[in-house]
Amino acid sequence: MKKFLALVMALTLCCSITAAVADTLTMVTNASFPPYEYYDGETIVGIDADIAAAICQKLGYELVITDMEFDSLIPAVSSGKADFAMAGMTVTDERAQLVNFSKSYATGIQAIIVKDGSPIASVDDLFVEGSSNKIGVQLSTTGDLYTTWDIEEKGLGTVVRYSNGNDAVMALLSGKVDCVVIDKEPAKAYVAANTGLVVLDTEYAIEDYAACIAKGNEEFLAKFDAALDELSADGTVQSIIDQYISAE
Ligand code: ARG
Repeated sequence: MKKFLALVMALTLCCSITAAVADTLTMVTNASFPPYEYYDGETIVGIDADIAAAICQKLGYELVITDMEFDSLIPAVSSGKADFAMAGMTVTDERAQLVNFSKSYATGIQAIIVKDGSPIASVDDLFVEGSSNKIGVQLSTTGDLYTTWDIEEKGLGTVVRYSNGNDAVMALLSGKVDCVVIDKEPAKAYVAANTGLVVLDTEYAIEDYAACIAKGNEEFLAKFDAALDELSADGTVQSIIDQYISAE
């Protein structure tokens, strides 16, 4: 009987712990990507953090954000370590084999950062026959994938992969790479924070950003999308974006 009681107590404790955990949703991100996610002191802020907080509030959960390497995000979601990822993540067919994507909440652009006066003046300059540029990217991002296919595999240059965008930009400043291919809004933030850099006007690619959720968790995906729909319809998503990105 004592044993039975102990078991019941253990189970009760277990359930109450589960219940407590169930009140929070864990989002994973890679927080070196302003204005989508970056540190303000110890806190991760940005467009993704704010949209995620609004979605969680609507669904009645508390949001916990965990920072990790960009290429760990999809494994964290698909293994169930995190409930969702939001990281200015582009929807791609390859990723959609591994995780489900929510509805898109923003458009992304792959842009090119160069030093002032660089011979690279437009995206086409990267594809000129006989080129041998060194292209800095963040590992596993679409900037990495596209330049690997379009430039490295065609013998038009070398792709140098960094664990975050800021490191790629530092490599550009110190002359280790000739340009950086990265999403346009972070590109603008990195350029504003450093002297001697410009973002080229021409665009490499236009993409959709979405959150990702584990396959098999379609019920949560539907709730997430419903909340996102409401927040798009009532203008919340746009007003969050406008808080971080000034109209050009
Ligand atoms: N949009 C690009 C991609 O999905 C880059 C995203 C990088 N995000 C980040 N938080 N570091 O591959």
